Amino acid sequence: MKRTLVTGGAGFVGRHVVTRLLRQGHEVHCVDPVVPLSGGIAPAEWPLFSPLDYDAFHYYPQDCRDWFREHAEEHFDYAFHLAAVVGGREMIENNPLAVADDLSIDAQYWQWAVQARPAKNLVFSSSAAYPIDLQRPDHYELLREGVITFMDRIGMPDMTYGWAKLTCEYLARLAYEKHGLKSVCYRPFSGYGEDQDDSYPFPGICKRVLAHRGESTITVWGSGRQMRDFIHIEDCVTAILHTMDQVEDASAINLSTGIYTSFIEFAQMAADSCGFQPEIRGTSDKPEGVFARAGDTTVQRQLGFEHTISFRDGIERALNYYLAR
Ligand SMILES: NC(=O)c1ccc[n+]([C@@H]2O[C@H](COP(=O)([O-])OP(=O)(O)OC[C@H]3O[C@@H](n4cnc5c(N)ncnc54)[C@H](O)[C@@H]3O)[C@@H](O)[C@H]2O)c1
Repeated sequence: MKRTLVTGGAGFVGRHVVTRLLRQGHEVHCVDPVVPLSGGIAPAEWPLFSPLDYDAFHYYPQDCRDWFREHAEEHFDYAFHLAAVVGGREMIENNPLAVADDLSIDAQYWQWAVQARPAKNLVFSSSAAYPIDLQRPDHYELLREGVITFMDRIGMPDMTYGWAKLTCEYLARLAYEKHGLKSVCYRPFSGYGEDQDDSYPFPGICKRVLAHRGESTITVWGSGRQMRDFIHIEDCVTAILHTMDQVEDASAINLSTGIYTSFIEFAQMAADSCGFQPEIRGTSDKPEGVFARAGDTTVQRQLGFEHTISFRDGIERALNYYLAR
């Protein structure tokens, strides 16, 4: 039986990773204090799956930095490092120093890893690590992993969140070069799913469309023209499980579909699924972040992964879920 650590395992991505790992027979050690204003949910209350039904699930409701000090000698086959202060666009823009905590969480993760030596480290970077000058209205392009080289180009990432993620990737590279620690760095784009925290655009827009069914106008954050690459959380986890044994030198892999969808198009699709066609308008009172962010899929395809859940199907699934509740 594989022994697997998941920091931040009670969060949105973590819950789906833990679910799949338990189903695949891993012994899972989940470390997460469920930080206020995060997307974390205590294991007894997960909406889609009950990890407490599994004897192989071990839960530590504590800050991973304390846990690292207490478990420096424990061996793991896989260590998924998901713990982070994330909290959606408003948090990223309005609370940059809180997000800077990620620098400390990641530094202590790697210091622990040097001692504990997990056989494989799976660390979660972000599409926010990419240079923002490639995501502007006058010039944007599908973001390729190779754009960030740590040799002659890194560019300006997105706020403290992007800086922290970039630094974590750099530490992963040093850990491989100096200590032989095997790892892979994932750069998820806009992962979404029905159990995501309401501070994210996906549940926000779906629930607004449901609440205003039949009305002539619906509003979305920012100009509404900003575009993202939405990838269903189940596709993200499939991509991770499919690729995690194929890379060991701290290289980055996008988790993306390569498809740009604007918030206006997203709201139109959701309204369409509900059977009405409102005018979708942007509001300027909430931050919209970069203009266009989507990830090239060449590396994922070379490693044998392609997303299978279309955004339209993912929206439909979530709308049915919210309606049923
Ligand atoms: N969801 C996405 O689409 C997406 C996109 C890009 C990157 N990521 C990355 O994936 C990871 C998970 O993101 P998420 O969307 O699940 O966020 P989330 O907020 O739902 O989950 C993060 C979890 O980390 C926990 N946490 C925070 N500080 C901690 C600490 N000191 N010790 C232990 N646990 C701590 C929180 O309680 C929370 O449960 C993060 O590293 C994030 O940067 C996610």
